[in-house]
Amino acid sequence: MVLSTGMAEAELALGPFGLAAVKPFSRTRHALDGSALLKVYVGIDPEGRRRRETETAEQAVHLGLSTPAVLATDRCVAGSWAVFSMLPGRPCSIGSHEAITEFVGHVLEVTGRLHQPAADLTPGFGWDGRQAGPGSQRQFLLDQLSPRCRRRPWWMVLGRALQSLDAQPVVRLHGDLKPEHLLVDGEDLHVVDWEASARGPAAVDYTDAVFHLVRDLLYEDMPPERVPVDLLTKMPFSGPVLAWRLVLWLDRRRPRDINLVSTHDVRQLAGEEQAAAAYRSLAWSVALLRAAGVPR
Ligand SMILES: Nc1ncnc2c1ncn2[C@@H]1O[C@H](COP(=O)(O)OP(=O)(O)O)[C@@H](O)[C@H]1O
Ligand SMILES: [Mg+2]
Repeated sequence: MVLSTGMAEAELALGPFGLAAVKPFSRTRHALDGSALLKVYVGIDPEGRRRRETETAEQAVHLGLSTPAVLATDRCVAGSWAVFSMLPGRPCSIGSHEAITEFVGHVLEVTGRLHQPAADLTPGFGWDGRQAGPGSQRQFLLDQLSPRCRRRPWWMVLGRALQSLDAQPVVRLHGDLKPEHLLVDGEDLHVVDWEASARGPAAVDYTDAVFHLVRDLLYEDMPPERVPVDLLTKMPFSGPVLAWRLVLWLDRRRPRDINLVSTHDVRQLAGEEQAAAAYRSLAWSVALLRAAGVPR
């Protein structure tokens, strides 16, 4: 491992940077002149996430996407970090039906470039397929759940439902599509936060976009019956991936939150064939979970 004082040097060259925005797995600081963003990766696999984000942000440009340039990056005693160029524009809003429709359009625009068929991709994190991965798409998704999920009564139901993914093509995924990661700049669109980039079924990106949107609307006090699910049906839909996404969310919340999802919930979401009906059940489930105290 190369230890370096690189972060201090980068701060001298590219900073000064302002106060840190602190999240569980990252600290981000904006250059005071608005030109750059310093991101320090903490907690789960900081070095893997740093490499993934910097490598994918550079590769995605070749697919015709606008992403931040990597100005400096390294690992050091203080942690793994990278400095990105600041891109103009504002994060997508979800504050009106028009804004949601625009967000869905932007997701389709990005995935249209990202999800192009690519030979020889195998499922796994990052876009570098040379590393040994989990073997199947189904296994890739199941491996993201913590071991305690295996003891839950719905585990087999979910596993069986996800089997259908193995017949789907493996594509390049952004891995964390949500409004705040799509920056709208007039006619241009910029895409940030590539640390969850992966190779897997396209449904993962669409489901993520839907899941974040529905959850955020509910946590901003929209009643579940008002969530405009019909606006989301232009994106391809997968019930099994939606069930998996709900479980993944709970698995990453408080330790006992995973017990709040029932076999009935998993079976219902995974087996639903109509996107709008599935998103409506998702909205009701998330509203009940919120009422049970699950943090966003
Ligand atoms: N290069 C950039 N240019 C402009 N805004 C950015 C850039 N990178 C990130 N942002 C904004 O900062 C927020 C946090 O950065 P992000 O990479 O998503 O970090 P985190 O891993 O903490 O979520 C993003 O949601 C986005 O709105
Ligand atoms: Mg982010």
